[in-house]
Amino acid sequence: MRLDIISIFPEYFAPLDVSLIGKARRTGLLDVRVHDLRSWTHDRHRTVDDTPYGGGPGMVMKPEPWGEALDEIAPAGDAVPRLVVPTPSGRPFTQAMAAELAAEDWLLFACGRYEGIDSRVVAEAATRMPVSEVSLGDFVLAGGEVAVLVMTEAIGRLIPGVLGNAESVADDSFAPGAMESLLEGPVFTKPPVWRERAVPEILLSGNHGAIARWRRDEALRRTAAHRPELLGRLDPERLDKHDRKV
Ligand code: ADE
Repeated sequence: MRLDIISIFPEYFAPLDVSLIGKARRTGLLDVRVHDLRSWTHDRHRTVDDTPYGGGPGMVMKPEPWGEALDEIAPAGDAVPRLVVPTPSGRPFTQAMAAELAAEDWLLFACGRYEGIDSRVVAEAATRMPVSEVSLGDFVLAGGEVAVLVMTEAIGRLIPGVLGNAESVADDSFAPGAMESLLEGPVFTKPPVWRERAVPEILLSGNHGAIARWRRDEALRRTAAHRPELLGRLDPERLDKHDRKV
């Protein structure tokens, strides 16, 4: 998969050299290219922002550098990327959206700063490529960079070959299938007793059916405690008699 990222702070993306995503880049599974928006400015100060029309506080990103950057990185042609714009006014980012984006061949992330990017940029881009405006949640970041790091990790780990076999994504919280709308329960490793706290005995029993049942019960309990609104979204078809008692 190819990922292009446009930002006025390319140095924000140093973590993409590390760990899973770094390895995926080195093995060629991910082709990540980070671009400095200021290289598409033409004035001495390399200006990327200006005051908002209609007044109000803050600054808005000027359309010209963005237009030139998108034209150069994604010229009109057969293959166009999906443009992903992180913004608190976008559609909520979810595991399902991560999976959809992981199925694309090419993503182009546009990191806004200040009060955002002049709205004509997205409107014009949408005439020649698919566009998703995406929010990480109901809070406001100082810019799109951290949001892109988050999305890149969530998307990247779903690309076949990026995770080892041992780290299956099927049991993750929110994973499509059995864990849809459920939070993953607690996990344990050795030693069996630590500071007088014993690992739940069932996990040492070797009874795989009983362990699966216990894990599901714990997931249901944790979801009820932390995210009760998710329980309403559980597919009734997927609930068995035992689930209803938990
Ligand atoms: N940029 C600023 N706040 C954001 C948010 N909550 N999600 C995505 N991008 C953002």
